Amino acid sequence: MLVEIPEVLDTEQLEAVRRLLADAPFVDGRLSAGTAARPVKRNEELDPGDRRIEALNRIVMGALTRHPLYLGAALPHRVAVPFYARYRPGMAYGEHVDDPVMGPPGGRYRSDVSVTVFLNGPEEYDGGELVVETTFGPRTVKLPAGHAVLYPSSSRHRVAEVTRGERLVAVTWVQSLVRDPARREVLFELDQARRALIEADPTAEPARRVQAAYANLVRMWAEV
Ligand code: NI
Repeated sequence: MLVEIPEVLDTEQLEAVRRLLADAPFVDGRLSAGTAARPVKRNEELDPGDRRIEALNRIVMGALTRHPLYLGAALPHRVAVPFYARYRPGMAYGEHVDDPVMGPPGGRYRSDVSVTVFLNGPEEYDGGELVVETTFGPRTVKLPAGHAVLYPSSSRHRVAEVTRGERLVAVTWVQSLVRDPARREVLFELDQARRALIEADPTAEPARRVQAAYANLVRMWAEV
């Protein structure tokens, strides 16, 4: 399941992010790449020791982790500290699968869901599409600034070469309460129905039944 989440960040938040990234120190993205990804990764990432990271995380992760679509689709248990990546002309990220286990010793997590938040607009660069292999063929994703996409970390994916301008994204990973992507998809569908029913009439019997079924399915499948 690939889920696009519109308007994670508003104009004001995007401006703040862009201001923070404007004069920030970027380093070679290969420094953070796993062994499988290193030969195909050609991008730059904000120096992980930079002081701006905290402010960026407050804005980007603060907004993402409150978004109901994100919560429903990812069912987050643990969330990684994001990377802020920049692709300039000639840069790309060849096909790979994300590392299954990430994080420092003592803070390890399993990557179930990969997340990209687009920090600038598609009109600002050519190329740079995220291409995710799905069971229905490749899906190409290039979203407006402030939008995000979620997809299973088990998917093969790549970022096409940027040929003009600059592509700015935040990328992060989630260890989900529910590790099976098929179960997460069922829960996501049910969550959408549940929200609509509750919004229409929270006291109606169908709303209460779907709400209870949703809660009990999560209880049945969640690993904490
Ligand atoms: Ni990746």
